[in-house]
Amino acid sequence: MKIVVLMVVVLLKAVSANSLGYDSIFSFGDSLADTGNFLRTGALAFPVIERLPYGETFFRHATGRCSDGRLVVDFFADAYGLPYLKPYLAVARDGNFQHGVNFAVAGATALDPEFFYHQKLGPILWTNDSLSVQLGWFKKVKSTLCTTPQECKNFFKRSLFLVGEIGGNDYNYPFFIGGTIKQVKATVPVVVEAIAATISALIDDGAVELVVPGNFPIGCSAVYLTLFETPNKAAYDEHGCLKVYNAFAKYHNAQLRLGLEKLRQKYPQAKIIYADYYGAAKRFVHSPKHYGFSEDRLVACCGGGGPYNFNNSARCGHTGSTTCTSPSTHANWDGIHLTDAAYRYVAMGLINGPFSSPSLSYAPIKQI
Ligand SMILES: *[C@@H]1O[C@H](CO)[C@@H](O)[C@H](O)[C@H]1NC(C)=O
Ligand SMILES: *[C@@H]1O[C@H](CO)[C@@H](O)[C@H](O)[C@H]1NC(C)=O
Repeated sequence: MKIVVLMVVVLLKAVSANSLGYDSIFSFGDSLADTGNFLRTGALAFPVIERLPYGETFFRHATGRCSDGRLVVDFFADAYGLPYLKPYLAVARDGNFQHGVNFAVAGATALDPEFFYHQKLGPILWTNDSLSVQLGWFKKVKSTLCTTPQECKNFFKRSLFLVGEIGGNDYNYPFFIGGTIKQVKATVPVVVEAIAATISALIDDGAVELVVPGNFPIGCSAVYLTLFETPNKAAYDEHGCLKVYNAFAKYHNAQLRLGLEKLRQKYPQAKIIYADYYGAAKRFVHSPKHYGFSEDRLVACCGGGGPYNFNNSARCGHTGSTTCTSPSTHANWDGIHLTDAAYRYVAMGLINGPFSSPSLSYAPIKQI
């Protein structure tokens, strides 16, 4: 009886969502969300994403996504019956933006390049298309969609804004060249401020519902585990993840959540949703079997050898790297990014709960 009642409730929810869902998605961020912008910037770093095995699982050809298949943003589009988001740089001149567009660029930072140039880190950036550049692109798109504030309000009230994940690279760049936890931690407040400033600007432009992801448990990622491998057993948690880097990700996430809380007070008319990427992905490490992942939970599918199959001299797609036979048995794709299978579970965890707080306004119209 209970089950029947529950099913009726679920059905009613689905019906109401059908008539009232999102019409468009606007996405900002880095390689976790980029559906092809970075490739189109023509920058030479990381060109392997234009070739197989990138894309092999779902699209069967490389699209510029840093994965074997779809990303969280693609699963969102699927769930809400919208087309996959085109990369802005592919359609900037003649695009139809009625269903949204994707501004995310692999390698992008929340902070502007000037910040990194001041710290002498500028030359290692893959891209200068930081969050504020992406916001500038959004403003151009907006001018094609609406003119008056009322018109914009009407259009964007049916839009979902995915602001991130962004910020991870602001930490990756300095960590990968030897920055200490203490040094990098000092930059968390300005990174969070940059994300908050973008959210404010979007709300001022008419955004009503925004999803803001935190960082993944980077201490469980093959790249961190390889670069910071240590014989000191105490550095690892019971799952084999590096404690200090996971603590760092949690610190960023906690600061981000505080920042979002302030924004909620400032903009009570907006719905600002925190997406707990950390919690959603930590499940793959805690109970890999539940998700169909192998017991070698921390090993990347595609890479050039080593205990985590991440080798900086032979990254995924480069000579000397190999790809696992079934990517769906791995959460980690290339040492840095996740597989189609893992992103699907992350997206499900956000859309169906419990990793969005508060939860999204609309139930999905399609199972992903
Ligand atoms: C970013 O901008 C700087 C300064 O204008 C330039 O030297 C650099 O080549 C740019 N980097 C990329 C990846 O485009
Ligand atoms: C990493 O890649 C280089 C270049 O292909 C290779 O010489 C080296 O043996 C690899 N390291 C491991 C641990 O497999």
